[in-house]
Amino acid sequence: MHPNELSVFLQTLQTIVGTAHVLSEGDLSAWELDWRKREQGKALAVVRPASTDEVARVVQACAAAQVSLVPQGGNTGMVVGSTPDASGTQVVLSLARMNRIRQLDAANLTVTVEAGCVLQTLQEACEAAGFLYPLSMASEGSCTVGGNLGTNAGGTQVVRYGNTRELCLGLEVVTAAGEVWNGLSGLRKDNTGYDLRHLFIGSEGTLGVITAATMKLFPSPKSMMTAYASVPSLDAAVELLGLAHQKLSSGLTGFEVMGAFALRLVRKHFPQQPVPFEGDDPFCVVLEVSDHDSEAHARALLESLLEEALQDGCVLDAVVAENLSQARALWHIRESIPLAQAQEGLNIKHDISIAVSRIPDFVRETDAAIQEAFPGARMVNYGHLGDGNLHYNVQAPVGADAEAFLRAQEKPMNALVYAQVDRFNGSISAEHGIGSLKREKLAEHKSPVALGVMRAIKLALDPHNLMNPGRVLKL
Ligand code: FAD
Ligand code: MLT
Ligand code: ZN
Repeated sequence: MHPNELSVFLQTLQTIVGTAHVLSEGDLSAWELDWRKREQGKALAVVRPASTDEVARVVQACAAAQVSLVPQGGNTGMVVGSTPDASGTQVVLSLARMNRIRQLDAANLTVTVEAGCVLQTLQEACEAAGFLYPLSMASEGSCTVGGNLGTNAGGTQVVRYGNTRELCLGLEVVTAAGEVWNGLSGLRKDNTGYDLRHLFIGSEGTLGVITAATMKLFPSPKSMMTAYASVPSLDAAVELLGLAHQKLSSGLTGFEVMGAFALRLVRKHFPQQPVPFEGDDPFCVVLEVSDHDSEAHARALLESLLEEALQDGCVLDAVVAENLSQARALWHIRESIPLAQAQEGLNIKHDISIAVSRIPDFVRETDAAIQEAFPGARMVNYGHLGDGNLHYNVQAPVGADAEAFLRAQEKPMNALVYAQVDRFNGSISAEHGIGSLKREKLAEHKSPVALGVMRAIKLALDPHNLMNPGRVLKL
């Protein structure tokens, strides 16, 4: 852009959102560098609107100047989707100031909330009103409702409540043309043609900007009980999951698995964090039951499940939290893994899903193939086993330079793992999305028919390719 045009463009943005909310100088790395430090971008400007109308006018101004936009919430995404590319030509549209909870409708069991509201703030507000907003993940102190919807985030309660898509009843969206679509319905039934809400959910900012959403609420359970168990193998973990489904039914609200090396990283990087069972059992599991009767009832259910599992041999040892703070501490072990892994150094992540029943075979075969092709590679294997979603991550061998390992081995490592995922009929992105990190891989692993339909949708909704270009699809 010519300097005069740039200056006029920035002034237009300042008129819309206020001078203080158009940032184009100084250290912008909080908006330009992705959470995993995989790519440092360069923004033309960071723009921080405070209302849907301001978002619409910013999008219109960008469209008029043919400037592309990167919607950003908490910038905690895992696939480099919320930061600008290095060209210095893209505007980061931060939704952080649009953080109001507009309405909690107790009778309808819904909450309408703006896209920039931090997930934990929403959880806490709903809890204070006696309701559960069940979406939960380790990034909840920073990630936003808009980012959760943009990525169709999963997290640790999906086994019972589903992912973000299943929690959403309606959206308000600013289209690529700068129009506002008010689809904030709190309706559970509405078969009036194509469901646009599902088009925007999981579209990673490539089709429009989500400015608000109506989300489902649930009555707060009377009691939530957490257990931590060591298991002799992944087969045993799957057996335990089956038993938990049988005995707890919809009371089962969390089932997470953690490999021995993932737990060793937590011990190493967070030594103050107590971790049960110091021995290196191959896998441990965190499981949670929610109960609408009483704490005693929840405890009895969980203890009876664990007793049976101990007798069957699918559990080696187990502890049940005595109180809320113990429960939080047990969950904290699981939630510390991504941070511990980041502390250990740059790494290769595979956020994959496979039918639960086939996960043990997948891991056995793929672990062996990796050790043969990349001797010494360290497997940081953990995740949402209840959803068939593994974070099948890899750390460089001991003593290796993590950056050099990543540069040289990420491509062949991905090729090996994703070929296995295909063989097992799985998905190469279970919950993190595609962003730019997995864009080339999507083209290789998604059916050409599906890719053609996706391209047609993208071009129909964003014909000038201004909404988060280069993410998800290459046009
Ligand atoms: P951002 O990172 O800012 O954006 C993510 C994507 O959504 C980008 O493509 C962006 O353009 C788009 N976007 C953001 N806001 C909007 C909007 N208003 N309208 C349209 N598009 C938008 N993810 C899981 O699914 N499950 C987990 O368990 C999980 N655990 C995590 C743990 C840690 C420690 C960390 C750091 C991340 C974790 N994540 C997890 C990934 C991440 O937190 C989620 O993807 C989250 O939903 C991103 O929200 P955000 O507000 O940070 O979005
Ligand atoms: C998690 O479940 O902790 C995150 O989605 C995993 C990750 O960091 O890969
Ligand atoms: Zn996850």
